[in-house]
Amino acid sequence: MDPVSNPFAPGAGTPPPELAGRDDLRETVRVALERVRRGLPAKSVLMVGLRGVGKTVLLDRMRDDAEAAGFHTIRIEAPESRSLPAILAPELRLALLRLSRNQQAKALAQRGLRALAGFARSLKVKYQDIDIGFDFEPEPGLADNGDLEHDLQALIEVAGEAARSAATALVLFVDELQYVPETELAALITALHRTAQRSLPVVLVGAGLPQLRGRMGRAKSYAERLFDFPEIGALAPPEAKSAIAIPAAAQGVHVDEDALDLIVQATLCYPYFLQEWGKHAWDVADASPITRQDVELASQTAIADLDQSFFRVRFDRLTPVERRYLRAMAELGRGPHRSGDIAEQLNRKVTSLGPTRNQLIAKGMIWSPNHGDTAFTAPLFDKFMRRIMTGDDWRE
Ligand SMILES: Nc1ncnc2c1ncn2[C@@H]1O[C@H](COP(=O)(O)OP(=O)(O)OP(=O)(O)O)[C@@H](O)[C@H]1O
Ligand SMILES: [Mg+2]
Repeated sequence: MDPVSNPFAPGAGTPPPELAGRDDLRETVRVALERVRRGLPAKSVLMVGLRGVGKTVLLDRMRDDAEAAGFHTIRIEAPESRSLPAILAPELRLALLRLSRNQQAKALAQRGLRALAGFARSLKVKYQDIDIGFDFEPEPGLADNGDLEHDLQALIEVAGEAARSAATALVLFVDELQYVPETELAALITALHRTAQRSLPVVLVGAGLPQLRGRMGRAKSYAERLFDFPEIGALAPPEAKSAIAIPAAAQGVHVDEDALDLIVQATLCYPYFLQEWGKHAWDVADASPITRQDVELASQTAIADLDQSFFRVRFDRLTPVERRYLRAMAELGRGPHRSGDIAEQLNRKVTSLGPTRNQLIAKGMIWSPNHGDTAFTAPLFDKFMRRIMTGDDWRE
């Protein structure tokens, strides 16, 4: 069928034509935000899940929901290389400038901008990547201690006071939170703890790989009580079918039930794969309906596309040693696997592989569901590794 009208959208952070199976979580966040706006307690939400399960698009949808409901939002993505204060400061500045246009919030928002000036100046020595414009002179003693934990708390408190005076809440949407170093995470947790204690309307809605949960706990032991960690994973089969059937039907195209069954089976209901299979099944089919035979053909091109995009970008960032480690894991199947079993595949000692394992965790390629266990962060990565590294030379 005409590829121009193909509704499916495989890609990192590309909004799907039908956001299936996430209504409950959107509702949970909606309720939390409304409660916080009214000065009632609510936990911040940190969504954890594997690569490609739809964390980013869900975060973006929640942000749209929040903006439509009149909240002030900030949206950042924690990169691997820049500091949290550096990426947070410019966005916080914009939020405070917007708040300062509200008459009720003007004075406090301007105080927030003074706090931000003090914050940025005093932390610039330590975090040289902080780079923002100043709208006001700093207020001596306000968020200018030079200590991130103290200053971030002071800054977020003033911002929360400004939001409260405007009868709104400040919502921080942060993606890829697992990349934030633990000291910076600790500062963020402390700041949110303080605003929660003071019933100030500030909420964090974050997303990250499954290791985020452990990192938060190590950064601050009370983090588990302060946050909810809903798991985002594969969809249930009926939801996965809706993700395919609804966008097709919107274009007047029917998808046969046994075709949908095969898509469910091939994708394990993982959102990224669903979009890829939907796209290829559409392109393969000559006309409505999309049949099981179309999906059989589409499976081959869909896998080839995944190997060139979703999997390939991750593989390309690996050193040869890291590739061998992942290939050894793949040899053992889907996982999780014991470190000892992986080492055995490589004829190496567990301790000598420790640094490689740590690098792979830092890169977000693997995580540790339990002590001594290792699992891939991308679904079906084991099968990909076996396709791309055939032969036996990885064992040396
Ligand atoms: N609920 C859903 N229903 C249907 N498709 C979805 C859903 N959620 C996400 N998708 C699709 O899955 C793909 C991956 O989404 P997204 O980039 O948000 O995943 P992610 O979890 O952020 O991945 P990563 O960890 O790699 O950043 C996109 O093509 C998106 O359109
Ligand atoms: Mg993402």
